[in-house]
Amino acid sequence: MLTVRAPATSANLGSGFDVFGVALGAPADVVRVERAPETTISITGAGSQYIPEDPKKNTVGAVAEALDAPARIRIDKGVRPSSGLGSSAASAAAAAVALNELYGRGLTREELVPIAAEGEALVSGEAHADNVAPSLLGGFTVVTDGGVTQVDTSIPLVACLPEITVSTRDARAVVPEHARMDNVVDTVGNAATLAVGMARNDPELVGKGMADEIVTPERTALIDGYAQVRDAALEAGATGVTVSGAGPGVLAVCHHADRRAIAAAMLDAFDAAGIESRAYQTTVG
Ligand code: HSE
Repeated sequence: MLTVRAPATSANLGSGFDVFGVALGAPADVVRVERAPETTISITGAGSQYIPEDPKKNTVGAVAEALDAPARIRIDKGVRPSSGLGSSAASAAAAAVALNELYGRGLTREELVPIAAEGEALVSGEAHADNVAPSLLGGFTVVTDGGVTQVDTSIPLVACLPEITVSTRDARAVVPEHARMDNVVDTVGNAATLAVGMARNDPELVGKGMADEIVTPERTALIDGYAQVRDAALEAGATGVTVSGAGPGVLAVCHHADRRAIAAAMLDAFDAAGIESRAYQTTVG
């Protein structure tokens, strides 16, 4: 039996819609695999009751099929589904690494990115790789049609997850089909600033570079209490705040010393809006 842990991730980071992603130090999924004549899946842990165990409906089943690697697969969920922290991607990434090794397929982590992304198509209708890439490679990743670029960084983060769900499909349905050129120019500038900030390990540049006027405003409307939580995090010292993935998680970038105060401020703000939440103080890892 083989056991692999894969981390939660936060995609988009505001200006990098469907392009940027980071791996988080916590939480994580753990996947155990053993060879079997056909694939079976069992799931325990956070939100496991909401995830189908049918291999044809589960991201991990799609990975097993893509690798032609039937197995008895056990998933222990640390990453809650529909939270905005790449829950399905963490399972898919862990399964891709485990099954690749179990069957000696010899693929590199980079080569496993499109295979793990196959599972994402089941969840959102599109095989976007901005969550599976950082879950497989760690650090900050930039996914384009030309491949993946990765950089190690250790930017401090707070991810606050409200007890509400927003499905990726619903969050993709509000993405505008067109954008104004002035917004595109601003967003390209912000994305470039963010990428430089990641490479320099500079939370000020990363926070500033997360600003996005194209996709994020449409999505914040789906998250009750978002404006209050963002303002509370900024007041407590966050250098930037945005929606984590497709939401409803909210991600704050900050200096290490401010994480505790920011987490408390975000929890309080959700609480004031009548929503329970949970905060992770972590770093890009
Ligand atoms: N980039 C994707 C989105 C990530 O924002 O829809 C969702 O997991």
